[in-house]
Amino acid sequence: MQTVQIVEVGPRDGLQNERNVIETSDKLQLIALLADAGLKRIEATSFVHPRWIPQLADADTVARHISNRVGVEYSALVPNKKGLERAIVAGLKEIAVFMSASEAHNKQNINKSIRETYSILSEVINQAVVAGIRVRGYVSTVFGCPFAGDVSIDDVTRVMEQLFKMGVYEVSLGDTIGIATPKQVEERLTVLLRYFPVEKLACHFHDTRGTALANVYAALTKGIRVFDSSIGGLGGCPYAPGATGNVATEDLVNMLEGMGIATGVDLHRLLAASSFMQTKLGRALPSKMLSFKQRG
Ligand code: HMG
Ligand code: MG
Repeated sequence: MQTVQIVEVGPRDGLQNERNVIETSDKLQLIALLADAGLKRIEATSFVHPRWIPQLADADTVARHISNRVGVEYSALVPNKKGLERAIVAGLKEIAVFMSASEAHNKQNINKSIRETYSILSEVINQAVVAGIRVRGYVSTVFGCPFAGDVSIDDVTRVMEQLFKMGVYEVSLGDTIGIATPKQVEERLTVLLRYFPVEKLACHFHDTRGTALANVYAALTKGIRVFDSSIGGLGGCPYAPGATGNVATEDLVNMLEGMGIATGVDLHRLLAASSFMQTKLGRALPSKMLSFKQRG
């Protein structure tokens, strides 16, 4: 049977754009419910500057209080050495570094040029690896940039090459503003797979224009077997105007399992996590499966 790994980014990407402060205890309960549903890779929070992402200002407390489950890998975003120090103190065994393929988004998002980011991240990754911490890498704006428009595949390839050279074990290709189409996904992956092994790539589709599941399907046909998603379809990057949530985890699981692809995730339990978040946020979430369940 075919299998797919899901990287749940709801507690990080999902919440980072939420205006109303969510209680730390609710974030911890969400993380526990996601693990209960069978998710094995959970991005729990983000050690960025609290002024830039106020919602995740409690990252240190969240990371320290996760009730670790055997077999579940918990990770967090780290932009620089200060972020790595915080992750180490919190006891995380995995982090994710991030940068953009486009200069304009990189500058808006982390206040550095791409060149400056290389030297910051090479130190971060090196120190993390020495400390026994696994490092995942994200490349944002792989399919288009909210500021610069088109992004060349050469720019994407160059950033990926650098991240792999620095020591990340996997690169997640971010459609930050949900602008990709299945045709573009197929074309970009065709090029990227000439340079990088398929098992080291993941896809991270935002669903701003409703194309995320179609893009997942296109990526599946190219052999991608790791997908990022967010419970309820929550999310977005505050430094990418107009960007909305990731593909909803429950919609992704429903589609994959329906295609006979095992995810190891229990859809009913996932919907319990989604419904918990919906109640806490007090508004309908973008998830198709959640609204379907509630209608039925
Ligand atoms: P900066 O202002 O350039 O930082 O921000 P700096 O290095 O000049 O330091 C300024 C002050 O910030 C110093 O304090 C540092 O100690 C402090 P001071 O000496 O003035 O008192 N500082 C920190 N404090 C706590 N934690 C830290 C940290 N770093 C410095 N880690 C910085 C640079 C990267 C920090 C800032 O731009 C930032 O936090 N940006 C994060 C933006 C963000 O989180 N965006 C969303 C996540 S990315 C995303 O969503 C895309 C993704 O999902 C994939 C996709 O969809 O494409 C991953
Ligand atoms: Mg994202």
